Amino acid sequence: MVISFSCSATTKLTWTLALLLILVTMIQVHGQSPPGFVSIDCGWINSNTYTDNALGIPYSSDGEFVDGGLNHEILPEFMDGVGNDQQKTLRSFPDGSRNCYTLPSTISKKYLLRAMFTYGNYDRLNKTGDMSLFLFGLHIGVNFWEAVNLTNQDPSTTVLKEVLTIAPSNSVSFCLINFGSGIPFISSLELRPLQDTMYPFVNSSLSVSYFQRIRFGNVTDLITRYPMDPYDRFWFRIVNNSYPWISLNTSSIVKSPPDNDAFSVPSGILQKASTLDTNYSFMTFAMAQGRNLGTNSLQLFLPIFHFAEINMSNPNRRFSIYINDVLVFSDFSPSLLQVESKYYSGQFKQNASASISLRKTDGSSLPPLINAFEVYSPVRMENLTTDSNDVNYMKQIKTHYNLARIGWNGDPCSPSEYSWEDLTCDYSKSNQNPRIVAINLSNSGLIGGIAISFINMASLVNLDLSHNNLTGAIPDYQLNSLKVLNLSNNQLNGPIPGYILQRSNAGLLDLRLEGNPLCSEVKGAYCSNKKNTLTAVIVPVVLVSIVVVICILWKFCWKGKSGDHEDYAMYEEETPLHIDIRRFTYAELKLITNEFQSIIGKGGFGIVYHGILKNGNEVAVKVLMETSIAESTDFLPEVQTLSKVHHKNLVTLEGYCQNKKCLALVYDFMPRGNLQQQLRGGHDYSLNWEQRLHIALDAAQGLEYLHESCTPSIVHRDVKTPNILLDENLVGIISDFGLSRAFNDAHTHISTVAAGTLGYLDPEYHATFQLTVKTDVYSFGIVLLEIITGQPPVCMDPQTVHLPNWVRQKIAKGSIHDIVDKRLLDQYDAIALQGVVDLAMNCVENAAIHRPTMTEVVARLKVLLPAVSSEKQSVSAPPQSTY
Ligand SMILES: *[C@@H]1O[C@H](CO)[C@@H](O)[C@H](O)[C@H]1NC(C)=O
Ligand SMILES: *[C@@H]1O[C@H](CO)[C@@H](O)[C@H](O)[C@H]1NC(C)=O
Ligand SMILES: *[C@@H]1O[C@H](CO)[C@@H](O)[C@H](O)[C@H]1NC(C)=O
Ligand SMILES: *[C@@H]1O[C@H](CO)[C@@H](O)[C@H](O)[C@H]1NC(C)=O
Ligand SMILES: *[C@@H]1O[C@H](CO)[C@@H](O)[C@H](O)[C@H]1NC(C)=O
Ligand SMILES: *[C@@H]1O[C@H](CO)[C@@H](O)[C@H](O)[C@H]1NC(C)=O
Ligand SMILES: *[C@@H]1O[C@H](CO)[C@@H](O)[C@H](O)[C@H]1NC(C)=O
Ligand SMILES: *[C@@H]1O[C@H](CO)[C@@H](O)[C@H](O)[C@H]1NC(C)=O
Ligand SMILES: *[C@@H]1O[C@H](CO)[C@@H](O)[C@H](O)[C@H]1NC(C)=O
Ligand SMILES: *[C@@H]1O[C@H](CO)[C@@H](O)[C@H](O)[C@H]1NC(C)=O
Repeated sequence: MVISFSCSATTKLTWTLALLLILVTMIQVHGQSPPGFVSIDCGWINSNTYTDNALGIPYSSDGEFVDGGLNHEILPEFMDGVGNDQQKTLRSFPDGSRNCYTLPSTISKKYLLRAMFTYGNYDRLNKTGDMSLFLFGLHIGVNFWEAVNLTNQDPSTTVLKEVLTIAPSNSVSFCLINFGSGIPFISSLELRPLQDTMYPFVNSSLSVSYFQRIRFGNVTDLITRYPMDPYDRFWFRIVNNSYPWISLNTSSIVKSPPDNDAFSVPSGILQKASTLDTNYSFMTFAMAQGRNLGTNSLQLFLPIFHFAEINMSNPNRRFSIYINDVLVFSDFSPSLLQVESKYYSGQFKQNASASISLRKTDGSSLPPLINAFEVYSPVRMENLTTDSNDVNYMKQIKTHYNLARIGWNGDPCSPSEYSWEDLTCDYSKSNQNPRIVAINLSNSGLIGGIAISFINMASLVNLDLSHNNLTGAIPDYQLNSLKVLNLSNNQLNGPIPGYILQRSNAGLLDLRLEGNPLCSEVKGAYCSNKKNTLTAVIVPVVLVSIVVVICILWKFCWKGKSGDHEDYAMYEEETPLHIDIRRFTYAELKLITNEFQSIIGKGGFGIVYHGILKNGNEVAVKVLMETSIAESTDFLPEVQTLSKVHHKNLVTLEGYCQNKKCLALVYDFMPRGNLQQQLRGGHDYSLNWEQRLHIALDAAQGLEYLHESCTPSIVHRDVKTPNILLDENLVGIISDFGLSRAFNDAHTHISTVAAGTLGYLDPEYHATFQLTVKTDVYSFGIVLLEIITGQPPVCMDPQTVHLPNWVRQKIAKGSIHDIVDKRLLDQYDAIALQGVVDLAMNCVENAAIHRPTMTEVVARLKVLLPAVSSEKQSVSAPPQSTY
């Protein structure tokens, strides 16, 4: 409330008092919901909450928690007999096989969820009395919980179902399942938070369903619940409490053991108990074979017994517990005014019709006693919910287009038989949440723009939004895994985003836009009706293919291994993997590289050519050696891995080409060549001290990313100055990572090419043949020494000596300054020099365990970099144009 006029102090005070009074009255009238309680009176049509008089808890209508359904009242003749007001109204679900309520919760917290069902002949069809089956199911989340069986029941019967469960997300969903034998309905729904330490056997893969919960002694109320039980559990009083059963009570508080409060049974409940007349020795009671407990005699159950001595003279009372005459807990003595709960820790027993007996043991002076008792049956939470991002995006889509689809409620993919229509889900990865891979909302009357949520769905492969009234432009967003995008026959206009166009042109996206206004301006294949072209073209294509194959075979047989590159173009193979980078054909590579004219490098795996893409971007095309290819089955998986590695200090893979005889990788072109060329290239320009340290740090960060941020870690295996490329700003970029593994493993185990380069190779590798991240650290140490000294890893002058030894010898003979590259002209930071040399020598320790990790290397280099030059200096020399 805003009081905008100015007023004196006294009037203000009166206002405040008045407000306080109103508030107090309101609280008294409406009651306050205990924290986390969600209390829903299903079918209650008034949008206001009301406070249940007996409980003092506010109840609200269910409209905001559920989509479908119809509101009803039970017939007046049953109104007076119901146990609580919430049973007077209900919501029925004549449509849809699954209807779900979504209740707010806190992820990973434990909850009690209670649903109650009172038929009350609301539809005047006598469904509980017409001798037909009246049965429907309940799901908790995406797992079957229990069936509600109202067959041959009195219409006034209230069925109670309770489950103790862990919230899988920030909502708990509860669904009613139509089995085709009666319309599901619900009268009330309650969610109560429990302490996480309670019912310790309940976990994310196991919920427990209520079977029985009884308190003993002389109890007036049929049900004890909130507020005596702050968790609002229902405790029923014992039915048969007549002689020789004796009721005990105490006014003293009964405590829980200080270290164990797994069940938090209220003291008020434990203050009463039942025992027997002293000349009796055992008490027996049955676990109810209740009407709604199912007829399955193989049902599993978990009983929990709560005992506390409440005879204040603390008598000698000892007894044993038997289930169906099998001893389960032996010679037990309850403690005075302290509860002890006996249960098998999460182990369920068979047979629901068990009878339980407590037998006085020899030497006990009094018969047994019992205060309370609970029984649960297991609910296995084996089915996984749909990926939560997919769920959120689908919810946004549903809201965005106001889609009121029957069946579009609850989890989109799970369980599979109730998945949303028009969605296709991928369940193939067991132990992983199902993902949405296709959405078909064709002819769905969608109006408005294309929801970004579609494009954000990371696993979506096929999206069909054709034949709707979608307007506006196609959003310019990075596509994830989308392979088919059908937007035909809508009202879309505006330009087609470059990224989408690019993917379509590269053959990575099947784009269909015909029947949109935007097609009046553009003339791509995506604007023509492909269906017709497809049927028209199929037959010729098949014929042509056969001719082509014959030609190839003929040519091949005659020419054999002539090495004519033309042949390779015919051997395009299907990629069995999803690789989200461009796939080039051999012909395209030829075009890009201008017939493989300009060689810019030769490496362990093949020759690198310079190329220019259609859009003008320069690329480096690495054509892998033919001999490497034959058995390189690891090539594609490796490319797939590489296509997912993104870091500013790692070279970006733009695409690849895979032919039977040609494997090629297309990378961003690095105009300044590699570090080796810059250090020893013989041209007049040389890197200054700071540039060198920056490049070292760049390379270290790239390696750190491969080691620490990739799972599993990627070991480069061939860190060396030729593999550290430089972009136009002299940022160090690591190349050739990952591939070494593909080739090394595909070939022999003793590979001189792939497993490192002479001078850079970890001495421990010779002994163990084990390549680890520390192998890269060693090689990086050599790179650091090269950066400092400008010397090659193995100096030949006057005799062959390994760079670390050369450095050691020089330092031993004279001063550390003697090792520094003469080209630096003594322009370097002497203090930093010592640090960098120390770090390099540390990296080249013989024992891998003594070498630092790349993370430590990065940290140490950062400290050594002159503070002033943290911003990269602009480079004055012109970029290299030839190699
Ligand atoms: C409903 O069923 C009961 C028997 O359970 C029967 O006596 C009663 O006449 C039935 N009422 C209607 C309207 O069919
Ligand atoms: C899990 O899903 C499968 C397939 O949808 C279903 O057959 C099974 O009953 C579900 N399990 C549970 C516990 O609900
Ligand atoms: C849940 O509890 C059951 C029984 O105690 C156990 O078998 C299962 O491994 C537990 N699951 C998790 C996810 O802790
Ligand atoms: C049970 O308690 C009521 C009062 O709450 C009392 O009147 C009655 O006598 C008690 N019965 C027994 C058997 O203790
Ligand atoms: C109550 O218990 C007594 C003695 O145990 C037994 O004789 C009687 O049949 C029981 N009554 C009911 C309704 O269970
Ligand atoms: C409590 O126990 C006493 C006997 O110890 C009995 O007289 C009294 O009725 C009991 N009260 C209730 C409420 O059961
Ligand atoms: C126990 O004692 C009572 C009298 O206090 C008597 O009525 C009853 O029959 C006895 N029961 C047994 C089993 O001895
Ligand atoms: C439902 O209850 C009826 C009557 O008690 C019984 O005949 C039927 O077997 C029950 N069905 C199920 C599936 O429990
Ligand atoms: C309480 O314990 C005393 C001492 O053993 C015993 O004499 C008395 O009968 C007990 N009272 C009840 C109600 O069991
Ligand atoms: C699109 O909207 C127009 C009217 O604006 C309507 O006539 C037409 O049926 C709609 N098309 C679809 C596919 O909903």
